[in-house]
Amino acid sequence: MTLLQKTEDIIVLKEEKIIADWSADMYEIDETGTEDVAFLLSCLGVTPKRILEIACGSGRILVPLAKAGHVAVGLDMDEAMLRKIPAKAEGVDNITWRIADAIVDDWENGYDVVVIAGNFLMNIVSEEGPERAQQILLEKAKFALKPGGMLYIDYNHTFYPEQWYVHPGERVIWEGTDSHGTTGRMLLCDSTYDAATGLIRSVRRYELETATGEKIRKEMPSVKHYVSLEQIHTWLSEEGFRIEKEYGDYAENPIGETTGRAIICAAVTEE
Ligand SMILES: C[S@@+](CC[C@H](N)C(=O)[O-])C[C@H]1O[C@@H](n2cnc3c(N)ncnc32)[C@H](O)[C@@H]1O
Repeated sequence: MTLLQKTEDIIVLKEEKIIADWSADMYEIDETGTEDVAFLLSCLGVTPKRILEIACGSGRILVPLAKAGHVAVGLDMDEAMLRKIPAKAEGVDNITWRIADAIVDDWENGYDVVVIAGNFLMNIVSEEGPERAQQILLEKAKFALKPGGMLYIDYNHTFYPEQWYVHPGERVIWEGTDSHGTTGRMLLCDSTYDAATGLIRSVRRYELETATGEKIRKEMPSVKHYVSLEQIHTWLSEEGFRIEKEYGDYAENPIGETTGRAIICAAVTEE
């Protein structure tokens, strides 16, 4: 490796850290919903359960699970997001989390409930590609659960993905200043949806300036896979799950033309 190559790698790593720190702070500022958390807690009931949350991020869901008395275990690949948890979980001892790639790393087993919520199903990042990664999540959930255990999935669902996901031009998703003084915005550009493959493609662009005046402009291609209701039903059935409850919103309406979510409680069947 040449000295030049090494210096370039260090610059890329530094930029990645600045972007990760800024993104984690923007997530904390913008994504403060509690309705989905309250709904999950009501589905779980009051008996304490051993729960694994995949992609727990900054603990928005994980910490309330622990505070409600459940034994809460979280996995996430983003260290900057995980660093937000300790302050929220102070004094709570029935919570653990670790850095892990949900597709590559071991989940361990013996859980009563596996949670794949916060639209993670649509936001998974993996070298496997988004659709295969989604299937792997269900395969791994099956092995992580006790017999009769429950998989809880909550993601953005519509019967008209072409209307939701096609956005020519640019949209500002996050804008603001983080706790390090890095300021700027993240935009999603030219989102397209391919009905044949279910793939949603866009470019994520960061335009940031650090407190010391360093300018970062980075474009990252993003490919997500839209999971239709039919597809998730097929995958769950293939993995031996039985759907026990299914809702289209937090008011418990069935999934329909005007509801915006798929909230699924599926039990792993005993073989
Ligand atoms: C939209 S956030 C959701 C966080 C949290 N579940 C919530 O609802 O607040 C998505 C999270 O997925 C994580 N993530 C994406 N791909 C992952 C993977 N392959 N393994 C582990 N975490 C992943 C990201 O790091 C990010 O924290």
